[in-house]
Amino acid sequence: MSAILPPPQRIWWKQPVDKVEILWIVIAFVWCMIMFFMMPYWHLYGKQNLSSETYKVRPELFAQATQAMVDKYTVRTETDLKVPVVAPPAGSDVYLIARLWDWWPILELEAGKTYRLNLSSMDYQHGFSLQPENINIQVLPGYQHVVNVTPNRTGTYHIVCNEFCGIGHHKMASRLYVK
Ligand code: CUA
Repeated sequence: MSAILPPPQRIWWKQPVDKVEILWIVIAFVWCMIMFFMMPYWHLYGKQNLSSETYKVRPELFAQATQAMVDKYTVRTETDLKVPVVAPPAGSDVYLIARLWDWWPILELEAGKTYRLNLSSMDYQHGFSLQPENINIQVLPGYQHVVNVTPNRTGTYHIVCNEFCGIGHHKMASRLYVK
């Protein structure tokens, strides 16, 4: 039988289903169920899919809040571009801007302390990816994603953009310090 010609048996849906086909349907169904229940399971017990709150925000207001944090808590600047390194107090709202093509500013957090990490984009869709922890959060313009984070290990983490956002996408990388 071909898919182009009509089936020789016109009433094909009344024919018994082959055992092999039933077996494949069962396998596919079981696998679907496993995948389906892995989603809530991984959300609750995995460490990478964090619960986030999302609010609508105008990019200029988010930029203002970020600038206010930078003005108050900058401890030094880094690289030729004089990117501010900001060490906000524990428990506070910390802001990170995603834009074509950088993350701004650099955050310096304390291990064992909890912060409300606010993420938003000034322009395109970007992807916040924290390495090597492999925490991934979509960053969209017009929306403010808020995630409670408690860094548990000190060191330098890398932030890369994992959503293709144009010609400078591969350069959209930054770092996050935990001390
Ligand atoms: Cu931002 Cu890719």
